[in-house]
Amino acid sequence: MIKHTPVLLKEAVELLNCKKGGVYIDCTVGAGGHAERILELSSPDGVIIGIDQDEEILKIAEERLKRFGERTRLVHGNFSDIKDVMKNENVDGILFDLGVSSYQLEDKERGFSFMSDAPLDMRMDKKTKITAADIINRSSERELSEIIFKYGEERFAKRIASFIVRERERKPIATTLQLSDIIMKAIPARFHAQKIHLATRTFQALRIAVNRELEILEKSLLDAVDILKPEGRMCVISFHSLEDRIVKRTFQRLEKGCICPPKIPVCQCGIKPSIKIITKKPVAPAEMEIKANPRARSAKLRAAEKLLTV
Ligand SMILES: C[S@@+](CC[C@H](N)C(=O)[O-])C[C@H]1O[C@@H](n2cnc3c(N)ncnc32)[C@H](O)[C@@H]1O
Repeated sequence: MIKHTPVLLKEAVELLNCKKGGVYIDCTVGAGGHAERILELSSPDGVIIGIDQDEEILKIAEERLKRFGERTRLVHGNFSDIKDVMKNENVDGILFDLGVSSYQLEDKERGFSFMSDAPLDMRMDKKTKITAADIINRSSERELSEIIFKYGEERFAKRIASFIVRERERKPIATTLQLSDIIMKAIPARFHAQKIHLATRTFQALRIAVNRELEILEKSLLDAVDILKPEGRMCVISFHSLEDRIVKRTFQRLEKGCICPPKIPVCQCGIKPSIKIITKKPVAPAEMEIKANPRARSAKLRAAEKLLTV
């Protein structure tokens, strides 16, 4: 049985400041690893609302968290709708543990991984329409190159896009191994000796594009701050630099408040600081955690507290 080990668990729950009777939202509840710990620390009456856009993974969370009974509410949805899910603005802590879970990566039918053959799907929410195969087979060469470069930071994006377009003229690209094979051919042989698999960056790019992962992040963070109680805490765990950059900049902007140009002597915009950043530098996993769970190696945790005076 596959297992998802929660990343930066101790650090995240400590920074969330979990206390009894608290109300928490886990925006990416996944298999419920972080949620379980939050419920333990907030017992006997703390409550968690666990959101996930993957209906299948919610079944695993449900099983894991059933011993907490009414203290858990699981919601199938996207965290970009957090304000609709949580109508009252009284939350003590909010957690985002971004990206995919090991269950999704290792589910051979979901198409997230280049390690086994599967249809090129990559949708976390099966109710959404666009799959990775749609993007690969229908986007122009330029669009493909932009997606692979922007979301995968892949230096061979142009070559990969051109190889994809050439290949799909012969027959549609339908499976993960077909795509991974094309990527290997597109990357010049002298660059093949890399620490990570050659398809890693392109697969990351496609997954981000299919699930619109970066487009929704900033707005979701802003909405999350709105529904936090004063002195409520928010923790975000990200797994690649593109995500982390958005979290870092959004936190910095909220901490600064005023957006007037520096030349203006008196603030005209009236925007006040709304949070205090608690982690001046992102928290990274300790060596021991990375050894035990290599998936944690790129994780970064940032935390902020909502100000009393907002
Ligand atoms: C890294 S896993 C979370 C693991 C979880 N913390 C645990 O301990 O089991 C990320 C989860 O977030 C979900 N997810 C990613 N983006 C989402 C979004 N925009 N809205 C809701 N769920 C999302 C994924 O489906 C996945 O289950």
